[in-house]
Amino acid sequence: MTYTKNDGNSSAYSNEFFNNEWRIYQKVLNNNYLRHGEIYSILHKLLVNYFQKSFSMLDLGCGDCTFITQALLNTTITEYQGVDLSESALKIARSNMASLDCEKNFIQGNFLEVVPELVNQRHDRFDIIVASYALHHLSFEQKDLMIGQLASLLQAGGAFILIDVVRRKEEVREVFMKRYLEGVRKHWSLLTPQEYLMTENHISSQDFPETQEALYEISRKHNFTRAECLYCDPLDVIQLLCFYR
Ligand SMILES: C[S@@+](CC[C@H](N)C(=O)[O-])C[C@H]1O[C@@H](n2cnc3c(N)ncnc32)[C@H](O)[C@@H]1O
Repeated sequence: MTYTKNDGNSSAYSNEFFNNEWRIYQKVLNNNYLRHGEIYSILHKLLVNYFQKSFSMLDLGCGDCTFITQALLNTTITEYQGVDLSESALKIARSNMASLDCEKNFIQGNFLEVVPELVNQRHDRFDIIVASYALHHLSFEQKDLMIGQLASLLQAGGAFILIDVVRRKEEVREVFMKRYLEGVRKHWSLLTPQEYLMTENHISSQDFPETQEALYEISRKHNFTRAECLYCDPLDVIQLLCFYR
């Protein structure tokens, strides 16, 4: 299950992403190609139903916070902490989150370094940790390590929300990529040929999805008590998974 991966530790990577691919990513979001509409509406309902009392959230790879802001409106959130490599994205995030009435903190940095630091500092535990389209860059071993660290950053009764591409059971990465990119070619119809090429290059070189079974196995190993899939897109490539402590 070991795949080569982006080392995820370079702010140059993120600046390049912001400069070259951010505009395309905005187009992808605006056309709901990655199903943010459905997913963040489910997340909002989960936050409202699961947390009657106040809650805190850590958001890894928060980007510009467009959708998480919508999900957090009219909830009982009291503390939000966003982490992202890109200062440009965080600048927009601060503005997007301005209307939200809670304590906000944005850390510009690599979550592969920030998360262990929070663990070492014995930072106050979070009720919810979100990683939305941010962990698929990591190798299997890095995801395993990260999810273990996140378990120790969560309150008892808290939850880790993973929104990302997920392979089918026993589907190897190459087969997943073929299926995923066929869907992109067919359905992401408003991308120009050049935008499509850049997207294909990004996905082929940066996306290293796991199967749901492997993610559930990792979560059991790190003492999460329960896992459930709250959303799977019609093409069976994207999932919203919830791991409860
Ligand atoms: C595809 S965007 C997702 C943004 C947002 N979470 C969403 O769902 O729309 C991935 C974000 O994760 C950030 N990112 C990727 N790897 C990271 C890392 N190792 N540490 C911190 N941020 C990272 C990127 O800068 C980018 O803003």
